[in-house]
Amino acid sequence: MKIAVVGGTGDFGLALAQRLVEAGEDVVIGSRDAERAAAKGAEVGARGAANDDAVRGVDLVVLAVKSDAALPTAKSLVEAIGDTPVLSVASELRFTKQGVLPGEDARSIAERTQELLRAPVVAGLHSLAAASLASGKADGDALVCGDDAGAKELALALAALVVTGRALDAGPLASARALEGMTAVIVNLNKRYRAHAGVQVTGLH
Ligand SMILES: NC(=O)c1ccc[n+]([C@@H]2O[C@H](COP(=O)([O-])OP(=O)(O)OC[C@H]3O[C@@H](n4cnc5c(N)ncnc54)[C@H](OP(=O)(O)O)[C@@H]3O)[C@@H](O)[C@H]2O)c1
Repeated sequence: MKIAVVGGTGDFGLALAQRLVEAGEDVVIGSRDAERAAAKGAEVGARGAANDDAVRGVDLVVLAVKSDAALPTAKSLVEAIGDTPVLSVASELRFTKQGVLPGEDARSIAERTQELLRAPVVAGLHSLAAASLASGKADGDALVCGDDAGAKELALALAALVVTGRALDAGPLASARALEGMTAVIVNLNKRYRAHAGVQVTGLH
C-alpha cells in the first residue's frame, strides 16, 4: 500500500511511518517544508515531500498534523487529495487545572474533515501513544470508524500493522466523537499513572 503521512515530521506521524516502513509499506512523509520532510523521512526509510505532492498518487492519506491544524490542512489539500481515502487521527484536547478535557465541539474533527473533502474520511489510531509506537508496535488494539467501507478496510489494514492487538471496526464515522473524546481519558490516565496507556477490547470472538 502507498501511504502518505501528512505531518509525518511530528512525533506521531514519524513513529507511524517508521512502523509502516518496517512492515514493508511504501511511505511518503508530508510536511509544509519539503526539505524537512526529506530529512525526517530519511531517518525512518521513507520518502519525503511537500504535503500537496506527498498526497498525490497514494492509496491512503493519514492526516497526522497537529490537531488544531487538521481542518485548515485538509482544506488546503482538497484538490491534491481528490478522492483518495483519508485517515484522521486527530483529537482536540483542552488542558485545564481539573485535567485534560475533550474538545467543546459536539462533532468530531473527523466529521468536520469529511465536510471539507470529497474523499471518504475514516478515523482511528487515537489510542496509540506516539511514544509507544516509536519503540515498536503499540500495545493493545486499534479502533477505526468510518462510513465508507473501502476506506475503512484500508485503514483497518494499516492499523493491523502497527499494534500488538487487533484492528477493530468501531462503526460509523460518528463514533469518532467517542474515539477522539477517549484521547482525553487516555492522557489523564497517562498523567495519573505516568504511563503510555493503550486500549484493549474484551469479549470479542
Ligand atoms: N502524540 C500522540 O501520542 C498521538 C497519539 C494519537 C494521535 N495523535 C494525533 O496525531 C496528530 C499529530 O500529533 P503529534 O503529537 O505528532 O503533533 P505535532 O508533533 O505537534 O505536529 C505534527 C506536525 O504537524 C505539522 N504542523 C504543525 N503546525 C501546523 C500548522 N499550523 N499547519 C500545518 N501543519 C502543521 C508539523 O509538520 P511540518 O511543520 O513539518 O509541516 C508537525 O511536525 C495529532 O492530530 C494528534 O491528535 C497523536
